[in-house]
Amino acid sequence: MGAVRAIRHKAPSRWKVITISKFLVFLGSARDSTPPRPARLGLRVARQCQSQLAAMGHSVDLIDPLAIELPAVFKPHFAYAANAAPAALAELAGKIADADGYVMVSPEYNHSMSPALAHLLNHFGSSLFSYKPSAIVTYSAGQWGGARAAIGMRAFLSELGCLPVSAMIHLPKAQEVLTADGDFLEQIDADAWHGYFGRALAQLEWWAAAAHAHRTSEGTPIAAPAFSRDPSQRNAPELP
Ligand SMILES: Cc1cc2nc3c(=O)[nH]c(=O)nc-3n(C[C@H](O)[C@H](O)[C@H](O)COP(=O)(O)O)c2cc1C
Repeated sequence: MGAVRAIRHKAPSRWKVITISKFLVFLGSARDSTPPRPARLGLRVARQCQSQLAAMGHSVDLIDPLAIELPAVFKPHFAYAANAAPAALAELAGKIADADGYVMVSPEYNHSMSPALAHLLNHFGSSLFSYKPSAIVTYSAGQWGGARAAIGMRAFLSELGCLPVSAMIHLPKAQEVLTADGDFLEQIDADAWHGYFGRALAQLEWWAAAAHAHRTSEGTPIAAPAFSRDPSQRNAPELP
C-alpha cells in the first residue's frame, strides 16, 4: 500500500511519479438470471474499471457479492466478538481496511442503488472505510444510466466515511457500450468513453494518494474516533 514508483503517464515523453494505491471494485449485481437481458451487466462495467485502474499502475481487487457467503440472518462484521466473525466477513473486512479507495459499481433497481451492494456494505463499519475516497459508477440497460440511483449513493457512501469524488460515471445502455469481457465495443467511440471513465478514476487516484499520504505522515491530527456503542454517540449534547 502506498508504494511510490515512476511510471509513464499519458504523453510518452513524460514520466510521472505516482503512488501505487490499492483499490477495491465492488460489483453491485447479484443477479444471474433473465429477464431482463443481459444478466450481470455490471460485471462488464466493473471489469472496465478494473482494467483502467490496473493500466494506471494500481493494484485492484474485484469484490463480487456472488462470491461472498453472507450469513442468512443479518449480523454485521462489527457485531461479532474479536476473531469470531465468519471467514468470508473477516477476509473482506481485512481487504476494506487495507484498501486506499473504492469503486462502487451499481445497477439502478427501481430508481435506487443495488440492494445487494447496500446489504454487503452494511456488514462493515465506517471505521474500515473512513478517510478514504470512493467513486460512484452506475449503469442501466435503459437510457438513464442509473443516475437516479447515484444520487442516493452519495449520501450512503458519505455516511460510510468513504467520501465520493465529484465526477461520477453513468452508463446508459451499458450492453451497447461494453462487451461481456468489459472492453469497449468496436462501433463506439472508445477513446471518448475511456476519457469519461478516466476523469472519475483520476480523481479517485488523486484523493487516494492524498489520503494515504495524510494518514501515514507525522503531524496528522488524530482521526475522530468511530462510534462503537450505538448511533446516539454522534448526537448533539442534551439541552438542560
Ligand atoms: C429489479 C429490477 C429493477 C430495475 N429497475 C430499473 C430502474 O429503475 N432503472 C433502470 O434504468 N433500469 C432498471 N432495471 C433494468 C436494469 O438496468 C438492467 O436489468 C440491468 O441489466 C441490471 O444490471 P445487472 O444485470 O448487473 O443486474 C431494473 C432491473 C431489475 C432486475
